[in-house]
Amino acid sequence: MNLMLDVLGNLERTHTCGELRESHVGRHVVLMGWVAKKRDFGVFTFIDLRDRHGLTQVVVSEETAAEAHAKAKNLRGEFVIAVKGEVVSRAEGTHNAKLATGDIEVYVREILILNDAKVPPFQLEVAGSENLASEDTRLKYRYLDLRRPALQQNIIMRAKAVKAIREYFDDRGFLEIETPILLKSTPEGARDFIVPSRIHTGKFFALPQSPQILKQITMISGLDRYYQIARCFRDEDLRADRQPEFTQLDMEMSFVNREQVYREMEGMFNHVLKLIDVNLPAEWPRMTYSEAMRRYGSDKPDLRFGMELQDLSDSLKESDFAPFADTLRAGGEIKAIVVKGKAHYSRKQTDELQEFVRRYGAGALAWIKLGDETTSSLLKALGEPKIAELASIAGAEKGDAVLIVAGKKPVVAAALGALRNEVARREDLIERDRYECLIVTEFPMFEHDDETDTYVAAHHPFTSPMDEDLELFRTGVNDPSQHHLLGQVRAKAYDAVINGYECAGGSIRIHQKEVQALNFKALGMTPESARARFGFFLDALEYGTPPHGGFAAGIERTCMILCGTENIRDVMAFPKTASAQDLMMDSPGDVDNAQLDELGIAVIEPHP
Ligand code: AMO
Repeated sequence: MNLMLDVLGNLERTHTCGELRESHVGRHVVLMGWVAKKRDFGVFTFIDLRDRHGLTQVVVSEETAAEAHAKAKNLRGEFVIAVKGEVVSRAEGTHNAKLATGDIEVYVREILILNDAKVPPFQLEVAGSENLASEDTRLKYRYLDLRRPALQQNIIMRAKAVKAIREYFDDRGFLEIETPILLKSTPEGARDFIVPSRIHTGKFFALPQSPQILKQITMISGLDRYYQIARCFRDEDLRADRQPEFTQLDMEMSFVNREQVYREMEGMFNHVLKLIDVNLPAEWPRMTYSEAMRRYGSDKPDLRFGMELQDLSDSLKESDFAPFADTLRAGGEIKAIVVKGKAHYSRKQTDELQEFVRRYGAGALAWIKLGDETTSSLLKALGEPKIAELASIAGAEKGDAVLIVAGKKPVVAAALGALRNEVARREDLIERDRYECLIVTEFPMFEHDDETDTYVAAHHPFTSPMDEDLELFRTGVNDPSQHHLLGQVRAKAYDAVINGYECAGGSIRIHQKEVQALNFKALGMTPESARARFGFFLDALEYGTPPHGGFAAGIERTCMILCGTENIRDVMAFPKTASAQDLMMDSPGDVDNAQLDELGIAVIEPHP
């Protein structure tokens, strides 16, 4: 069929598809949008017309608009049309309470077919997200997926969030300052994406992993109170809440202590969460990193449910059960969580949970079930009285299950921290409309790399040690025999956590060059290598650097909270897949040889 398309000409739409109400009855209107659905009932054709504002039912009658009625026969899903008509009240019994425009319909006089459309490769409107087409198909046809109202609402929410963030910082005297995308390597610890220079053949720019150094330099410049909606690029392994390219709200301020930065972090998130009518406390609870790890096995605990980690190590000190005795002798620990009312966990269920904790390096998962009878995987090894004692120390009551992991401290924390979240998810322990926030403070300054026996920056190399730990830091750096002390140094670094997501992170920075030089040394850099990487910054530090600090919030993570989704791609218009590809544009792609020649680049086949 060769369809004649109409021209838009000077026609202007008068209303959106989400706008008309009972009060508009009698008005002559022009609507434009996509055909979401069409139903033919003999003399009447009903069309659901959709745009990003909503859906309006339009009715074409053969009797009053014969030409339009004939034209409507050609319409299929996703055709783009304009309709002219009159708003009428829906007949008794045909009101649709689920639709904002459900009290009215538009009686059409004229239809303009502005464009046709191929049959979409997947159905746009399905009930329930579980019935959606595969995510890869939807990513390939992202423009169609983005027509789904649910996804559009997320994108709209994101725009509102960014607007609210700008409002917050503008009102508080912060300056929005843009920093370059073509940069030199920045220090967030991931791999850089690099961009070859044509003019300086053989040289490369790096895309910013964050504007960290530049925002610090704006403080040195005296441009106190900076913020930016900043695009960041990190070539790292992806997870459910990570993308190679993402956006931060980045901020920095001078002459401040940690509490002053926390206030801005709280203020900003509290302002943004009002978008979904959530009122967080003006002052968020604080918890040190070590307390969070001890109680929750995580530096981003989800506080919407309890199930804190219980330490059983003391009670097992004298145990001659080899796995426990060996663990404790090697400086490890034995900890447990109590799952309320789950004494009836089946063998299959505990086996599954055991598989789960093994992914985090735990050797096994021991259990105690306080059913009508007490049963335990440790009964033979420890005997009944000890089992009863452990259950009581863990705070378990009749009907509960106790899940126990033994091992090195980091393994126990990782395994039980993750198990705590997994059990909460499986048992549906999380109230959907509950929001729990937390500022985690005093992160360790360094992480130990066991393989190379070196220390790496836990946050980034510009983070200040705690004043109380400065001497420890100096000794650890300057006295090779005391190097291990670095593992105990705490930093003025903090994270903002909402519902178990790390939504922001930041620190008070080092502003004195002597401390900065020490820190580079601690990280194994020679003065020469530090100069080669960060010479410009070390120079800048020498010209009157004010004390300063700040934070950066993940816009996507914040929007995941706002939109109630666990998939970061749901809050990005054009996200990449878990294997860092754009399926719509088919990127990364090839470049032609001429372009490579110009850049002085030869591509070597990757090693098999
Ligand atoms: P950090 O690396 O902690 O700190 O990042 C800050 C926040 O950015 C978000 N984020 C991400 N979101 C999506 N995908 C990713 N790959 C990703 N990586 C990080 C998180 C995180 O909390 N320059 C410092 C900030 C500072 O010290 O001021 C920085 O970038 O929500």
